Amino acid sequence: MPDMTGLIHHAVMAPSGHNTQPWRFRVKENRVLIFPDFLRRLPVVDPLDRELYISLGCALENLVIAAGHEGYRALVGYSFEDGAISVNLEPVDGKANNDWLFNAISIKQSTRRRYDGRSIPEADMERLALLPLEKGVSAVFVTDSEKVEGIIELVKEGNSIQMNDRDFMQELISWIRFNEAEANRYRTALAQRPWEIPHPLV
Ligand SMILES: Cc1cc2nc3c(=O)[nH]c(=O)nc-3n(C[C@H](O)[C@H](O)[C@H](O)COP(=O)(O)O)c2cc1C
Repeated sequence: MPDMTGLIHHAVMAPSGHNTQPWRFRVKENRVLIFPDFLRRLPVVDPLDRELYISLGCALENLVIAAGHEGYRALVGYSFEDGAISVNLEPVDGKANNDWLFNAISIKQSTRRRYDGRSIPEADMERLALLPLEKGVSAVFVTDSEKVEGIIELVKEGNSIQMNDRDFMQELISWIRFNEAEANRYRTALAQRPWEIPHPLV
């Protein structure tokens, strides 16, 4: 029997929009169901729940990586009825050789610090370029500095539009914890420095 609590512990370390952590888990024997938690929707910035489902995909990916690390193959299914993702875990001979991914789960962190200007190492770029992509999806790497500047201007413009939108700002503020007590109480959302949001399962 897989260590379900351990697997879910790794799943919930996934990134999510505004750190809403819009997931719920149900365990049935060797099966984990991941449900969308619509109480954690972001109706202004994510009216179609697109990013909510991307966040669920991130949690699923972590769970699959952790299962492989424990010696289980994950068979993933999706129900269009209730939006649940099902993960059936089957024992396999030997653990997946994915230490580097598994170890990354607990150390990865989104950062909003000032960019230090260092280039992404060539080897990392090559690894990214080799990632398998779904049919119809392509990855474009923009390295030309003039083009990069053009994109920065577009991002800045997009940011200004959002920052000048009252509804967007209200929603964002409602997902920011302004003191340590609040951060401890909710254990989700974005922490205003210097406190960290404690991990939900710690
Ligand atoms: C679908 C999705 C959209 C996100 N959008 C933004 C964004 O627009 N701006 C941003 O600074 N972070 C964004 N994030 C990062 C989250 O805010 C971050 O994952 C969350 O605060 C949890 O922090 P952690 O990744 O360090 O665990 C996004 C993450 C996901 C999964």
